[in-house]
Amino acid sequence: MKETLQAIEAKALEMIAQGDTLDKLNEVKVAYLGKKGELTAVLKGMKDVSPEDRPKVGQMVNDTRAVIEDALNAAIKSLEAKLMEEKLKEEVIDVTLPSTKPEIGHRHPNTIALEEVERIFVGMGYEVVEGPEIEKDYYNFEALNIPADHPAKDEQDTFYINSDILLRTQTSSVQVHVMEEQKPPIRIIAPGRVFRADEVDATHSPSFHQIEGLVIDKNVTFADLKGTLAEFAKELFGEETKVKFRPHHFPFTEPSAEMDVTCFKCGGSGCRFCKGSGWIEILGCGMVHPRVLTMCNIDPNEYTGFAFGVGLERIALLKYEIDDMRLLYENDIRFLKQF
Ligand code: DAH
Repeated sequence: MKETLQAIEAKALEMIAQGDTLDKLNEVKVAYLGKKGELTAVLKGMKDVSPEDRPKVGQMVNDTRAVIEDALNAAIKSLEAKLMEEKLKEEVIDVTLPSTKPEIGHRHPNTIALEEVERIFVGMGYEVVEGPEIEKDYYNFEALNIPADHPAKDEQDTFYINSDILLRTQTSSVQVHVMEEQKPPIRIIAPGRVFRADEVDATHSPSFHQIEGLVIDKNVTFADLKGTLAEFAKELFGEETKVKFRPHHFPFTEPSAEMDVTCFKCGGSGCRFCKGSGWIEILGCGMVHPRVLTMCNIDPNEYTGFAFGVGLERIALLKYEIDDMRLLYENDIRFLKQF
C-alpha cells in the first residue's frame, strides 16, 4: 500500500511540475483528488485492508493528499502570478503619448438658418409640418394646378420614379397634404428637401431645401401676406429691412409675386453683394389659387389664403455671405466651424 501511495504521489508531483497552464493543473486535481480520482480509489479499497491497519493506511492516504494539494496550490498560485505579470506587461499604458481628443460636431449653416426661420414663424403661431420626399405626381403638380402638359413637369427638371411617382421638386406638395388633412384655419410652415435634375454649380444642386408656408382662413388678404413676410424679413435680416413685391407667375397662386429685400450689406444703395441693385430676391409667394382650394375640398367662397416658398440654402448663403452653394455640401469641418 505504501508503495502504491508513493507511486501516486510521485506521478502527481511530476504532472504538477509539468503543468504550465491552469487547465492542465486542474486536470491533475481531478485525476488525483477528485471523486473519481486515484486517491479516492485507494480509499475505496480500504475494505480489503485489515481493520487494525486501517487507521495507519488512512493516515497515509491523508498525508499523500496533503502533499499533492499543497504542491498543486503552490503551482496554481505561481502560475497565476506569472500570467498576471505577463498581462500587465502587455497592457502597459504610455501616459506620455498624446491623447486623441473627441471631435465635437457642429450645426450646419442650413440647420442654423432653418432653426432661425422656424423660430420666427413659430413665434407667429405657425405649426411646423413635414411631407414625403417621394411624392405622387398629383401632389407635386396636378393638385397645384400644374396640369399634365405644363412645362414645369419637364422630365429634364424632375426625377421620375415612374410616370406617377417622383422625387418632389418643391415643398408646395405639402400644402395639398395639409389641406386634405386639416380644416381651416391653417397656419403651417413645411421645411424639407426637394430634388431637381440640375447640374451642380455655385447656385444649383440636384438636391436642396425649401421652406413652404401656408395660411388658410376666412378673410385672409394680400395685406396679410405682405405684413407677415415683411415681419419675417425684418426678423431675419434686421429691423431696417424693407420688402418689395414684383408680379410673377406661379400656377398655384393668383396673384403671384416674388419678394425682394433691401440688401443688408449696403442698406439698398447698391453694392457688389446685390449686384448694384440694392435688392435681393428672397422668395416666391401669392394668394392660394381658388382651383387649388377646390381640389382640396375647401370652399374658395368661404376661405382664402396665402402661400410662400423660401429656398433654405439661399437664406444660409445670404446670411453667412457664402458665395458658393457647393461649400454647404462638402462637409469640410474647417468650413463648417466658422458659423
Ligand atoms: N414652389 C415654388 C418653387 O419651387 C416656390 C413657391 C412660390 C412656393 C410661390 C409658394 C408660392 O408657396 O406661393 O419655385
